[in-house]
Amino acid sequence: MKTVVIIGGSKGIGNAILSKLVNTTKVINISRTKPKLSHNNLTHYSCDILKDDLPVISTADTLIYCPGSINLKPISRLSLDDFRVDFEINVLGAVKTIQQYLPILKNSLNPSILLFSTVATKLGMPFHASVAASKSSIEGLVKTLGAELAPNIRINAIAPTITDTDLASKLLRNDQLKQSISDRHPLKKFLNPEEVAEMALFLISDNALSISGQIFEMDCGIVSFKI
Ligand SMILES: NC(=O)c1ccc[n+]([C@@H]2O[C@H](COP(=O)([O-])OP(=O)(O)OC[C@H]3O[C@@H](n4cnc5c(N)ncnc54)[C@H](OP(=O)(O)O)[C@@H]3O)[C@@H](O)[C@H]2O)c1
Repeated sequence: MKTVVIIGGSKGIGNAILSKLVNTTKVINISRTKPKLSHNNLTHYSCDILKDDLPVISTADTLIYCPGSINLKPISRLSLDDFRVDFEINVLGAVKTIQQYLPILKNSLNPSILLFSTVATKLGMPFHASVAASKSSIEGLVKTLGAELAPNIRINAIAPTITDTDLASKLLRNDQLKQSISDRHPLKKFLNPEEVAEMALFLISDNALSISGQIFEMDCGIVSFKI
């Protein structure tokens, strides 16, 4: 049975991935709080990625890093500390986990890494300066490490538009906001975590052995189309 390490499987997109995997895969979850689900195939480590040492794990086929931020403010109100905090959780946390688990990933048959970006790296939107800067770094990491780790380890990222999780709950806090966000997307919808999880499952599977160094927009058309 394969082992997938998820950083941030207690909630949101990570939790949707965890729930879809756990019947057929050993899942090691690392987050500050425990996932609600319990299962024989699931091991949880309580850990703050920014403060704590990561647990020692003996085997991993896939690493998925989910923590992120949506800190939207005009540039005049974004402090340098805002940029630092966003960079830490989005980028340095991912780097820390990749460095920690690279030696065990290298022992796997077809190892892969999956990270998360955002549509805001490709679509200029007011107030997104800090998150766009951090997630652009994620995209740079995916390209660089895709080359550096080839042919042994694949690495890709999904760049979702707004997804109905705790992280986006302020932006989706009532029906009117949900409607207006749907209306802004050419496909007249936004994402739910389960559909992002389906893309994640494909990218970490052996059906995607030819795919590395790629950023997959799940944009409901907002980056791709002007209608
Ligand atoms: N939701 C959206 O609209 C959206 C849009 C574009 C991109 N994205 C990106 O997609 C990814 C997943 O987003 P999401 O909406 O699923 O986020 P979420 O609902 O906030 O879930 C994040 C997960 O990461 C864990 N986490 C956060 N900080 C942590 C820390 N310091 N140490 C350990 N674990 C930590 C959380 O668990 P604990 O709280 O238990 O620690 C949780 O399980 C993120 O990278 C995000 O930037 C999301």
